[in-house]
Amino acid sequence: MMIKDLVLKNRSYRRFQQRATINQETLRELVDLARLSASAGNKQPLKYILSGEPPKNALIFPCLRWAAYLKDWPGPAEGERPAAYIVILGDKNLSDSFGSDQGIAAQSILLGATEKGLGGCIIASIQKEKLHEALAIPANYEILLVIALGQPTETVVIESVGADGDIKYWRDAEDKHHVPKRSLAEIIIS
Ligand SMILES: Cc1cc2nc3c(=O)[nH]c(=O)nc-3n(C[C@H](O)[C@H](O)[C@H](O)COP(=O)(O)O)c2cc1C
Repeated sequence: MMIKDLVLKNRSYRRFQQRATINQETLRELVDLARLSASAGNKQPLKYILSGEPPKNALIFPCLRWAAYLKDWPGPAEGERPAAYIVILGDKNLSDSFGSDQGIAAQSILLGATEKGLGGCIIASIQKEKLHEALAIPANYEILLVIALGQPTETVVIESVGADGDIKYWRDAEDKHHVPKRSLAEIIIS
């Protein structure tokens, strides 16, 4: 797949075939893409927790907040929840700040997942204390992002931001998820 196809296909998916498991080797391959990505000062302070087993997934799921703009949707129901997660941590023993590293790592992971026919969602809205406790994460690791992964079951449509300038994503009567994107003319200022 060419890069534009990959980027287009790499949408934020929030509903999955929960029972279509993702094995540890696949998760390790995705983290390897993050490992090979850019890192400020080449400090490489990110660490990862992999989860592809239902009991561990069940500890992570209640710590996440889904789709804040979809006020009437409480998040994926049992059966359509992610099959796996990659928790991205910052190792405070290696750096005081993590800058953009986690965003770059997340994108590498998701592009790799897309290439494998999977999909996912970056989650920053995390109950961090609860997740620290649930996974017994040592205090020197800061929780930065959680990447939810699975076989997507929803259709996501990209459209242009309308005249009203509203950027909120929304779902139509057929349950398709629409994501308004600003135009190139709007975002390139000179
Ligand atoms: C840094 C970051 C944090 C995000 N956190 C959440 C989150 O906590 N929960 C969620 O449902 N989506 C989250 N998202 C997904 C965004 O809502 C999504 O990227 C946006 O709606 C655009 O959709 P697209 O990724 O399909 O282009 C996050 C995305 C990014 C880049």
